[in-house]
Amino acid sequence: MHIPQNLQIKSFAEYKQWYKQSVENPEKFWDEIANQFLWKKKWNKTLEYDFNTPKVSWFKGGKLNITENCLDRHLEKLGNKTAIIWEPNDPDEETRHITYRQLYVKVSHFANVLKNNGIKKGDRVCLYMPMIPELAIAMLACARVGAVHSIVFAGFSSTAIASRINDSECKMLITANEVYRGNKRVNLKEMCDEALKQTPSIETVIVYRRTVEPTPMKSNRDKFWFDELQKVSKDCAAEEMDAEDLLFILYTSGSTGKPKGMVHTTGGYMVGSTFTFQNVFQPNENDIYWCTADIGWITGHSYIIYGPLCAGATTVMFEGIPSYPDYGRFWEICDKLNVTHFYTAPTAIRALAKHPLDYVKKHNLQSLKILGSVGEPINEEAWHWYNDHIGNGNCPIVDTWWQTETGAIMISPLAGITPTRPTFATLPLPGVQLALMDENGIEIEQKPIQAEGRLAIKFPWPSMARSVYNDHERYKNVYFSQFKGKYFTGDGAYRDATGNYRITGRVDDVVIVSGHNLGTAPIENAINEHELVAESAIVGFPHEVKGTALCAYITLHEGHNESDKLTSEIKKLVADTIGPIAKPDKIIFVGGLPKTRSGKIMRRILRKIASNETDALGDISTLLNPDVVDEIIVAFGK
Ligand code: WT7
Repeated sequence: MHIPQNLQIKSFAEYKQWYKQSVENPEKFWDEIANQFLWKKKWNKTLEYDFNTPKVSWFKGGKLNITENCLDRHLEKLGNKTAIIWEPNDPDEETRHITYRQLYVKVSHFANVLKNNGIKKGDRVCLYMPMIPELAIAMLACARVGAVHSIVFAGFSSTAIASRINDSECKMLITANEVYRGNKRVNLKEMCDEALKQTPSIETVIVYRRTVEPTPMKSNRDKFWFDELQKVSKDCAAEEMDAEDLLFILYTSGSTGKPKGMVHTTGGYMVGSTFTFQNVFQPNENDIYWCTADIGWITGHSYIIYGPLCAGATTVMFEGIPSYPDYGRFWEICDKLNVTHFYTAPTAIRALAKHPLDYVKKHNLQSLKILGSVGEPINEEAWHWYNDHIGNGNCPIVDTWWQTETGAIMISPLAGITPTRPTFATLPLPGVQLALMDENGIEIEQKPIQAEGRLAIKFPWPSMARSVYNDHERYKNVYFSQFKGKYFTGDGAYRDATGNYRITGRVDDVVIVSGHNLGTAPIENAINEHELVAESAIVGFPHEVKGTALCAYITLHEGHNESDKLTSEIKKLVADTIGPIAKPDKIIFVGGLPKTRSGKIMRRILRKIASNETDALGDISTLLNPDVVDEIIVAFGK
């Protein structure tokens, strides 16, 4: 592999040694890592920071272009290696293999389209694209010319597109006419046209034709991708960027109102995403790595595109959905492409585990070596299903904890190198200094090591978000005001006697029952242990005696019905696993749980229903499945 092997930790002892060095002398540590990349000019100050302002800068004065690290520097040795394998929605459509050299040419070519349409360094460009290689090409082309990409997940509504475009005043929108999703075809351009009615900053719209359907175009504004390519050359020198110049903005939902445009910069993000990719996944030269996330989320930015490409790996992009043409599609693709690394979300695992095992058994999955999980705590039952049926008991599972804001994985096993433990994200990566905080905002000391609290980070790391776009005050309030001098994650965590961390869920999901602080995740885990339970969500609701009592919303595996026996079995299971205090007062069986498009259960809605506040549910239109809400209200009222 092109990346020198000294980027990779190779034993548990080495992990401990690297970790120690990274804490004792962080600047020296990151200097050595950063030295392994291609810089046009070396930085003069490794780190400057102040968590009170807050202000963080890494590799100040260093000049680079991330696409030279993803593409140019690989050409000599890896030019003919496949960079991207694209698997279409329809299994009968041809798979595309794009080599590093081809990708380099396509990115440079399209970068000239951006320039030819007036895009300059620092301009913001919105991408609303399906999972096709052109999304990767467009984002890298932005980075090549120094434009800031703001990718909006192509499942979001036109209102969401418009508000994101307006917040960062994007000059250009890049989209596709349509997208295939299972047996549906979705018209993205129509969605954009609706949004474009309210986005005065957009001057140009570039449209990639994914299907042959006629696409209405507005003259002087809308241009076809292919036509624009004909007008420009294929050579494009990479713009020189400062390490702290913006690379991208990515919006993430806040606990209230408007989404936050998290700002990521060039040098630190590159170093962080690549270093973590190398170490968590431990890729080898001929591995085929597949992360099933959409590039519209941070997981796709860091672990489909930037991390793997900087590392010279082969990365898979999948256009479709796990249930099309049947529930075995993921496994069919693993066999077809000889996937060695498979990285997905617990919600996907649980959804697939609900269906007969035959969908898995039909495929041999022999190529798999390493499995990954991200997005929410992975419950014990899902962990074992993943381990037994997908990993065949011999693939390490890396449970990776991180956030849009952290840019890169923060807590995770290193595959095959450090120990795993079901439901634990385990140990912090080198450079990550965690702190568990008690309810008075005091750090819980390392002795005794076993403790539970709120998770904070007490030292900067290169890939951290630098601000909320145009709202630095919000950045300060949300992340740096809870605990003075520390970054607050919003998550709760438990640390075991050997220093392994388990994320217990968002702190805003914590419920206090009769004065006891209960995380929702452990109770849900207990309930999910029941063999008939598919998924569950716990929320608190007002209770006369207890202050707050618990309500459990539960979905069952196909073909099973609710019964009094089942209700009492579930209560007993919770009482046995956690304690009688955690027994839900109400158990409601439902057909589905309301989810965000990224697969998170929207407990806020369930909480309102349990509290009889159904007239104050707020906007449910952005849910993946808004239809289940009415059904849940009815089930609750029964
Ligand atoms: C929140 C961040 C990071 C990419 C996807 C989500 C939860 C994420 C884990 C994990 C337990 C996890 C946390 C975190 N989370 N990964 N392995 N175990 N919880 O990014 O949308 O910014 O969400 O997701 O609650 O704070 P995001």
